[in-house]
Amino acid sequence: MGYAHLPAYLKFSEKVKLTAICDINEKSVKVYGKTSNVRAIYTDFEKMLKDEDLDAIDICTIHDQHKKQTILAAEAGKHILLEKPMATTIQDCKDMVQATEKAGVNFMIAQVLRYLPSSQAVVKIIQNEELGPIRAVRGDSLLKQSTILPRDHWMFDGNRAGGGVLITLSIHVIDLLRYYLGNVKRVSGICKTTTPLFINGAEDYASATLEFEKGTIGNILGSLSVGRTPWNVKYMIFGDYGTIYSNPPPQKVSHYQIGNAVLSSTKVDKERKSSQIGDFISIDSDSNPFVGDNPFINEVIHFIECCQNDEEPFSSGKDNLETMKIIFGIYKASNTNKVIYLDDL
Ligand SMILES: NC(=O)c1ccc[n+]([C@@H]2O[C@H](COP(=O)([O-])OP(=O)(O)OC[C@H]3O[C@@H](n4cnc5c(N)ncnc54)[C@H](O)[C@@H]3O)[C@@H](O)[C@H]2O)c1
Repeated sequence: MGYAHLPAYLKFSEKVKLTAICDINEKSVKVYGKTSNVRAIYTDFEKMLKDEDLDAIDICTIHDQHKKQTILAAEAGKHILLEKPMATTIQDCKDMVQATEKAGVNFMIAQVLRYLPSSQAVVKIIQNEELGPIRAVRGDSLLKQSTILPRDHWMFDGNRAGGGVLITLSIHVIDLLRYYLGNVKRVSGICKTTTPLFINGAEDYASATLEFEKGTIGNILGSLSVGRTPWNVKYMIFGDYGTIYSNPPPQKVSHYQIGNAVLSSTKVDKERKSSQIGDFISIDSDSNPFVGDNPFINEVIHFIECCQNDEEPFSSGKDNLETMKIIFGIYKASNTNKVIYLDDL
């Protein structure tokens, strides 16, 4: 993910200067240093923190490193941009938010789907109550991970990743739906591991039901083992007067390219008495509040601007605690065969 964030630093060098890079893999860090033209390269995160004069750190490491690195950076007074998921237990997430608040630094989680222009257009439609009361949502996240990652990759290992499909992939659409609709009250779910490639409790299939505080019900399906799929990531939002669905590009894509959200509009369609199926129109995302269309660049620049203007990012660590409660709530629901109220986590 460092490579996905890099263009933001290279393209917006008048806003932010990339000064040092760290990776425990010496070969990787050398290549990265060359690509980015940064000379200060490290294989030891703590040494980099100590030796370099940094304002902020962008952490794109493995999930089981997130807590330690975030807390070290906070204690060193650095602002922190951290790749999702925040950490591998809910207690770790709470500790991280507390440490960053205590240090008075900005702490943002890179929930990239929020930074798509189409996601911001959906927010406006929902805020304007164009869909009427929103009754139900659905989010699918489907991949065959073994076709894109080596079989011994840490993402197959529950000890390193904190879980499987929910915490690595479904978290994107879960966070986006929560961003649109507010917090979730209770969850139930079933997680399953169907292939020995996934170890230490990492699930390759998950299905969950959510009830949002405002009453909307939600349905989540995630898999990292599907044989074939018509889409990777897709969501739908059903209101009394309209439906929004994301329209993933037809080609095989990286999961962040969720595609343009498409809207069955409210008033216009009602007057035309449109049929129940069809008549969907593309959402106009012309009033893009970001620097461009690339959500990775957008999220990095949002973070930088928040640090410079002393503002809270709209995917702050504090906000993200509620997303992490959904993830860990579903795991608990699956393990205990119970409905989990997220206030209890
Ligand atoms: N937003 C998205 O669409 C998206 C997509 C993929 C991954 N991610 C997230 O990005 C993060 C990284 O995932 P990835 O796919 O880039 O993984 P990766 O394995 O490709 O890269 C992780 C890098 O971290 C380095 N590393 C590990 N421990 C380290 C340490 N202690 N200090 C310094 N470097 C260390 C590794 O050597 C490796 O180069 C994860 O949190 C993942 O969930 C997000």
